[in-house]
Amino acid sequence: MRKRFNLIVTNSYDEMSNAAYKELKNEILSGANKIGLATGSTPIGLYRNIVDDYINGNNVYSSLSYYNLDEYHGLEASHPQSYSYFMKQHLFNHINATKTHIPDGACDIEKSIREYQDILDSIQIDVQVLGIGVNGHIGFNEPSTPFDIKTNYVKLKNNTREANKRFFDNDIDAVPKNAITMGISDIMKAKKIIILANGESKATAIYNMIYGEIDPLNPASVLQNHPNVTVVIDRNAASKLPLKTVAIDISSTRVKFARYDHNMKREMFEIHDIANRNPIELLDENICDYVDEDTYRIGASVSGHVFKGCVSSKKLGLYKYDLSGYLKNKFNLETKILNRANAAGYAEHITNHKDNVSSYYFSLATGVGGGFVFRDEIIEGRRGVAGELGNLIVDGVCKNESELGAFERTYDYNVANDEESLKLTSAAVISNIVHILDPNVVIIDIKHLNINPNIVCDIEKIVNDNLYNSVDEKITVHEANVEHNSLLGLALYMNRSGKN
Ligand code: F6R
Repeated sequence: MRKRFNLIVTNSYDEMSNAAYKELKNEILSGANKIGLATGSTPIGLYRNIVDDYINGNNVYSSLSYYNLDEYHGLEASHPQSYSYFMKQHLFNHINATKTHIPDGACDIEKSIREYQDILDSIQIDVQVLGIGVNGHIGFNEPSTPFDIKTNYVKLKNNTREANKRFFDNDIDAVPKNAITMGISDIMKAKKIIILANGESKATAIYNMIYGEIDPLNPASVLQNHPNVTVVIDRNAASKLPLKTVAIDISSTRVKFARYDHNMKREMFEIHDIANRNPIELLDENICDYVDEDTYRIGASVSGHVFKGCVSSKKLGLYKYDLSGYLKNKFNLETKILNRANAAGYAEHITNHKDNVSSYYFSLATGVGGGFVFRDEIIEGRRGVAGELGNLIVDGVCKNESELGAFERTYDYNVANDEESLKLTSAAVISNIVHILDPNVVIIDIKHLNINPNIVCDIEKIVNDNLYNSVDEKITVHEANVEHNSLLGLALYMNRSGKN
């Protein structure tokens, strides 16, 4: 069974660096002052974030103590390829760090190991930052290193020297053959570990770290035994992980549950009628069937107003209900809550209209919803209602004027089910939206209304006839056609990036 690492998957190297920086900074703000550091290309972006923070006035970094993992044997600290030099160049010189510790690679090996071990034995590192080698090494603890080893002298494997020759003008002969490294048991002593990786070359190492046997042949697998490890990786390094997303869609009448695999293939799906139930109770009863040990994201698309993970919906009997908090508490996974029209619009956009910069989605069902997608992002707005046209009824039973959205205010709900009125109102409202947002396409969802599909063409014509248009650019209005679009849109949106 896979051990649950705290896993953050991001879209890019910069996002990875930023996420790792936030993790580390949170720890520092909570009192961590002994920080273990790594070298190599992976943490450079993290160090850049720290330097920027320092430049912006946060000088906490100067007072912390730093402990590096390793150093090449035979390189003086002043050698441009030494890790000592690297740390000064990328971090220490820029943050006025004085309490820095790195094994000495140039003096007598026995002495250097003893001195470094004495330092490590006298402290406990609060947060250890790690990279990972393509062969799964952590620090320079190469495959076959015993897990109980402390600071030691190592012979570097050829694939490690091969991977690192890029720092030595691609000359493998210039890469030192040996190094001094903190041992695996020293690394495991840290209170918290943040391990970073980016790029496809790390995908196998990351897979083996999380799913492999805990075995010295795969050094990073030892981290499965550590109680507090956060893995921060980009999409490419995550590409071999079979990660799953659980999506829940709550409309006024039904709750849908689904689980998607890492290729967004739906592998579980069920629909429950809400009937007269409380939707959250219904959710609570069923959700555990869907969340397995490989699930790393969970979210809900909900009809109603969504703001910062809280849901308000009269029909659902919810007012500022912290659905995100509920899911987080229950599963400790990344969560996202979206308005279901936004989610549906996103699914339509990504599935059929991705070549367009922007699209506006408009759904006519028992309620009216709207959502705007711009450059593959949902625009939710400051209060979470951007693009929202209404919230109530096209089926004729509006009770409270104050609950009317833009659509219902225009629509003569007393003559509901009158297609002509519905068409004219939709066209009028969409014309307004088109003038304000100027989307590339409009998508109308009438799947849930028993209505003549020609209404979509008619609306397109009326909108274009009404459009102020000096450039002869017509707006195209399409019919929505993605099945269970809110559910899929939510899952796709959660997976588009590591951080929601
Ligand atoms: C560096 C270290 C190594 C690197 C690993 C990945 O101090 O201990 O374990 O973290 O070799 O290197 P990069 O980041 O260059 O891919």
